Amino acid sequence: MSATAGNASGAGAGAEVIAGLARLPGGCELLALATEREDVALVGGAVRDLLLVRTPRELDVVVDGAAAAFAQELAGALAALGGGAPSSTGHQRFGTALVVWEGGRIDIAERRAESYPSPGALPEVRAGTLEEDLARRDFTVNAIAVPLSGRLAGELLCAEHAQEDLREGRLRVLHEGSFLDDPTRLLRLARYSARLGFKAEPRTAELASEALATGALDTVSRARIGAELRLALAESDAVAALGAISELGALTAIERRLRLDESLARRALALLPADGRPDLLLMASLLLPLSIDPDEDPEPVMFELLDGLEFTAGDRECVMRTALVAPGLFKELSLAAKPSEMHEALSAHTIEAIALGGAMGEGTSSVTAEAEIWFERLRHVHLEITGQDLLDAGIPAGPQVGWRLTHALARKLDGELGGGREAEITAALELDVR
Ligand code: CTP
Repeated sequence: MSATAGNASGAGAGAEVIAGLARLPGGCELLALATEREDVALVGGAVRDLLLVRTPRELDVVVDGAAAAFAQELAGALAALGGGAPSSTGHQRFGTALVVWEGGRIDIAERRAESYPSPGALPEVRAGTLEEDLARRDFTVNAIAVPLSGRLAGELLCAEHAQEDLREGRLRVLHEGSFLDDPTRLLRLARYSARLGFKAEPRTAELASEALATGALDTVSRARIGAELRLALAESDAVAALGAISELGALTAIERRLRLDESLARRALALLPADGRPDLLLMASLLLPLSIDPDEDPEPVMFELLDGLEFTAGDRECVMRTALVAPGLFKELSLAAKPSEMHEALSAHTIEAIALGGAMGEGTSSVTAEAEIWFERLRHVHLEITGQDLLDAGIPAGPQVGWRLTHALARKLDGELGGGREAEITAALELDVR
């Protein structure tokens, strides 16, 4: 495949990209630095998004070499703007660097050519031309660049079909072996199709099905699949991204029992308060068929899956506790008659589990409404007094301090106490612990 220099429309489109870039945070600084050298080009998703009049999530830039030095210069130029200090980090081994500041993020990579020693393996990399750098990419709409400096400054360079595919909303791989070289592109295909509303071009759809059918995803490390799955979970419409992954057949290729119930997932997300983690809730929802499988202990299976996918220990715990508990919470919620009973049923659980359990009750009971009441009101109810107040009132140290506090909180939750500390202390002292 060769990248072709833009024609007249390519030049016009390139100018459009540069104008769009100048309006983005950090864009002017990047353009100014680029004019001092010959080799800087904006590439990939940033160019695609600017042409689609979407805001890129980050800027991707390639340079001829020394990505880390360019990142440092860029961070210096951005620091002059004031605000939070930009950080620049470089990975010499990969020839990449990253500049992050409060206004955004710029990824810098040394131009490279790649070849795959075997299907699913990490590519072998060497320095390459801009054309070679485009040729190593996943889809035509990402194999697109606008040099910001040098002889071709302002031209649009792209893989064959890139511009028509962008216009027509098509995802097309650059060559027949693309999904076998890098099967994570199967997940990327689904993620981009959901995000951009694009469709796989027929031959690409065929190649994706063939790759899945021949077990391509089994040739990639679970860690890389996990990284792609987390990108899908972080999409602004993550349910749509997972829906596309599921429809492609890639979800069950990761683990045969994973299932997406889109309607349940959306209801659960609607219940989840702002301090919850939508990504973990969604991951847990995919695991529900495992939770309710009577033939297998779900915990070790979930652990192995999430560990292999390299979820952090904290995230893994939250996903497991959510998936394991949500179905039972649904039952407990339907039995809880009073706020204090809801507290007893819910207070030890993740908010993701409560949202998922609450969503499972939709249409069958008042469970969803109860979860809502919990999130909006009851979980914020706390005692004003502490154990120390009870010790001061003459209660001996020991488990009864906790029992008494629990009793006072239950009465407060059920609306049986007047306001204030005195009422709480009286309620705590009234408990007969003999
Ligand atoms: N890429 C690829 N194959 C992969 C991962 C990435 O070919 N498995 C290429 C794509 O061409 C992509 C570029 O590397 O455009 C940068 O990757 P990434 O930042 O993930 O892609 P963006 O398109 O910039 O994605 P987003 O819009 O989600 O930031």
